[in-house]
Amino acid sequence: MTEAKKLFVKTYGCQMNVYDSERMAEALGAKGYVTTETVEDADLVLLNTCHIREKASEKLYSDLGRLRALKAARPGLKIGVAGCVAQAEGEEILRRAPVVDLVVGPQAYHRLPAMVEAGGRIVDTEFPVEDKFSHLPERRALRGPTAFLTVQEGCDKFCAFCVVPYTRGAEVSRPVARLLDEARKLVAQGVREITLLGQNVNAYHGEGPGGTWGLARLVRELAGIAGLDRIRYTTSHPNDMDDDLIAAHGEVPQLMPYLHLPVQSGSDRILKAMNRKHTAEQYLRLVERIRAARPDILLSSDFIVGFPGETDADFQATLDLIRAVGFGAAFSFKYSARPGTPAAEKAPLPAEVADARLQELQALITAQQQATQAAMVGREVTVLYEKPGRLPGQMVGKSDHLHAVHVPDPDGRIGEIVRVRVAASAPNSLAGALISRAG
Ligand code: SAH
Ligand code: SF4
Ligand code: F3S
Repeated sequence: MTEAKKLFVKTYGCQMNVYDSERMAEALGAKGYVTTETVEDADLVLLNTCHIREKASEKLYSDLGRLRALKAARPGLKIGVAGCVAQAEGEEILRRAPVVDLVVGPQAYHRLPAMVEAGGRIVDTEFPVEDKFSHLPERRALRGPTAFLTVQEGCDKFCAFCVVPYTRGAEVSRPVARLLDEARKLVAQGVREITLLGQNVNAYHGEGPGGTWGLARLVRELAGIAGLDRIRYTTSHPNDMDDDLIAAHGEVPQLMPYLHLPVQSGSDRILKAMNRKHTAEQYLRLVERIRAARPDILLSSDFIVGFPGETDADFQATLDLIRAVGFGAAFSFKYSARPGTPAAEKAPLPAEVADARLQELQALITAQQQATQAAMVGREVTVLYEKPGRLPGQMVGKSDHLHAVHVPDPDGRIGEIVRVRVAASAPNSLAGALISRAG
């Protein structure tokens, strides 16, 4: 018997890339590749890249620089670049980096095994019309109790700063039947929590029995799967939060009380320049409606500071919006000009201005996050154990509100859902004591 070939995958960027990396590993698994955690052992290295900000895409070239020496020592080593930089730069990657053998865009992953077998230096960044996932092998047994499930890909929103509509293409939703099938199989493998993924997940409009289904209908159907205890979804656009989805937050117990709802800015002038197609006031009203449906929901968001033309007054409006909402968490980024996007034509702000604003915004968000966590102390929460903690006899899992919770529980098992009394709040997690095993 020949020895199995080894695959090393490095994933950058968003959760969709995490999901895609897993699926690519499965597809190559069917061709005899086993994954390795040690790059030095690999016969094939796949870098699944992100193009969202300049820093993210630069990481590819610094990693390729390091792989050059490895390939010199092992000439049989193949190096593949997947993900959003692959889509954005295509052949340019082969020109810039002679170590690279293949470049595969996110819509062509089902052709990856054939590309690897074919050999030579090749690029595939086509956007096929069919569902690439239906050409990938079935998902293998998973280790953990949580899983991602991509339901929708691509984006038609064209925010002025963003590369996603170019790297991932137009919005495409996977059919309901395939998703239910994949979800049932995940649950049969021990998964208790599924996070539905999409660049604009709440724009989901998949073909299902009786016509086109929205995300709320899909969530309600998934909630009927016995053993699927928790459902989450990310990332949403404010304009696609329809009445049914808001109502589902109040009606579907499995739908967890956490919503990531990026707003980017609190200034109407900047929101307009960003082509976000909503105002700060509309966002605030939407938050009110969501909280009316599910009062304890924890909201998180994304912010960009230093967008071209952002004045101090615009920035203050963003801080005002943050104060008005009270976020439980948020990601914030300094604007990064991306080639090919409309905003990249505009003059950037001085770096010091953007840096200072980012710091101020992050301090406010951190304070809100700490206040949200402190408010959990003394409360009873439900925790799904995901792994053992660092201390002996300790387990770590996520609460309904997505807080990491550490629990001393020598009898705890991964995949168990327990009730916990929160005792303390640390910077990025909570600590608590076991009350009971819920099942
Ligand atoms: N589809 C999602 C996620 C897009 S990427 C959404 O609409 O929210 C994740 C975040 O990266 C964005 O929400 C935005 O805050 C940030 N981002 C995108 N392009 C950026 C850029 N050019 N510079 C800085 N941050 C950016
Ligand atoms: Fe990018 Fe905007 Fe689409 Fe989100 S909604 S992926 S920020 S273009
Ligand atoms: Fe990055 Fe592409 Fe995701 S640009 S954030 S990997 S969709």
